[in-house]
Amino acid sequence: MPEKKAKSQEELRTGIIYCGDNLDVMSRLPAESIDLNYIDPPFFSNRQHEVIWGNGAELRAFGDRWKGGINVYVQWMKERLFEMHRLLKPTGSIYVHLDWHAVHYIKCEMDDTFGMSNFRNEIIWHYGQRTAFHKRHFSKKHDDILFYSKSNKSRLNPVAVEWTKDEFLAHRHDVKIDKDGREFIWTDGGKPGVRYKRFVDEVLSKKKPIDTVWDIPLLNSAAKERLGYPTQKPEALLERIINASSNKGEVVADFFMGGGTTLAVAERLERRWIGCDVSPIACRDTRRRVKKLIKEERDIEIIGMPHGLDELKAMDPFEFQNQVIVDMLHGTCSRKKSDDHGIDGHDFGRNPVEVKQSEHVGRPVVQKFHSAVRSEKRKKGIIVAFSFAKTAYEEVARIKLDEGIEIELLTIQELIADHYRRMGRK
Ligand SMILES: C[S@@+](CC[C@H](N)C(=O)[O-])C[C@H]1O[C@@H](n2cnc3c(N)ncnc32)[C@H](O)[C@@H]1O
Repeated sequence: MPEKKAKSQEELRTGIIYCGDNLDVMSRLPAESIDLNYIDPPFFSNRQHEVIWGNGAELRAFGDRWKGGINVYVQWMKERLFEMHRLLKPTGSIYVHLDWHAVHYIKCEMDDTFGMSNFRNEIIWHYGQRTAFHKRHFSKKHDDILFYSKSNKSRLNPVAVEWTKDEFLAHRHDVKIDKDGREFIWTDGGKPGVRYKRFVDEVLSKKKPIDTVWDIPLLNSAAKERLGYPTQKPEALLERIINASSNKGEVVADFFMGGGTTLAVAERLERRWIGCDVSPIACRDTRRRVKKLIKEERDIEIIGMPHGLDELKAMDPFEFQNQVIVDMLHGTCSRKKSDDHGIDGHDFGRNPVEVKQSEHVGRPVVQKFHSAVRSEKRKKGIIVAFSFAKTAYEEVARIKLDEGIEIELLTIQELIADHYRRMGRK
């Protein structure tokens, strides 16, 4: 068990998304401030997820690769679990969503960090109906969710589900029919030695308390809530967790937030929330998703979006492109990640935008962009880069003179200054 740190007097600010490594973010938050923490970390699955958004071929690396083997992954998780333990209130609970790759390793770490006596359940999320024959193993159709409490002060709200006659009959082979043709069973109602007669239709008219196997289908491609992340979890799953382990007004956290399923459900169920993700795209998408659900006039602040030059240069090119076009120019990114024919997206006024994460951008880039602007029949376009060569400015002047097409060469520095001016910051 980790040593308890001194309780911080600081108040936790909620309704905020943090963009950054969760270890760093959590270390800055006050102790014992969270009622429920759900996390769905990368699973140590050693595969590169591809993300397909909408109907486009926009592929995104999901960063689910762990160099250095399972021990490095476990250590990486352990540091984070330690912080999560510190942040939970004495009445709080944590749900850690994993799969067969690492659940057994992380269970040992959870026992160590939270205490074996605070283990509550291993929930099996059974998401698959369609199975197949494999040569060496059975179809893998479930994830594991480890549920622990901070102490024995935690309480679980009753959660019940409707059930069908088929589900009932699958486990009760002793159904009889009485002289009036009504199906019934004998039960002891939990009191050994007593026999009650219970009619099947009466049993089914009452909802059934949930157990540890949760049959909830994966999001299908037509689901309204679907954003396009392959690892996006269904809201129904989070609804159960949040209903069971928190109450209205309490604080729900997700430090591996992804597309923001936890935050969206928490908002809908009138909980307070905080979220964190290392990916600026995830933070932006979550903000957009949750904002649609907010009833009153309230903005969602994202703390830690990379804006410094060095940070911007080091960003994943696609993240960088999104940052410039969506965040700074309030536009939309092209659906294609590569082979953009000189256009990466459009600004707020639908003018084409090309983003280069490089210095000294010269004439060839301007020429290619110019053709693309012309083929879109636009009179204006913007190229954003860290700096431009003299030849780029010369080419822009020539195009303006010959064809009246205006190509603006914007440096990132100018854009950042403008961005901060608009946000009212220094
Ligand atoms: C499996 S996804 C979460 C999906 C989410 N439950 C949903 O329904 O959309 C894991 C997320 O963890 C994020 N992540 C990975 N390492 C992180 C870190 N060190 N700090 C914060 N977020 C991290 C990834 O960017 C990814 O969005």
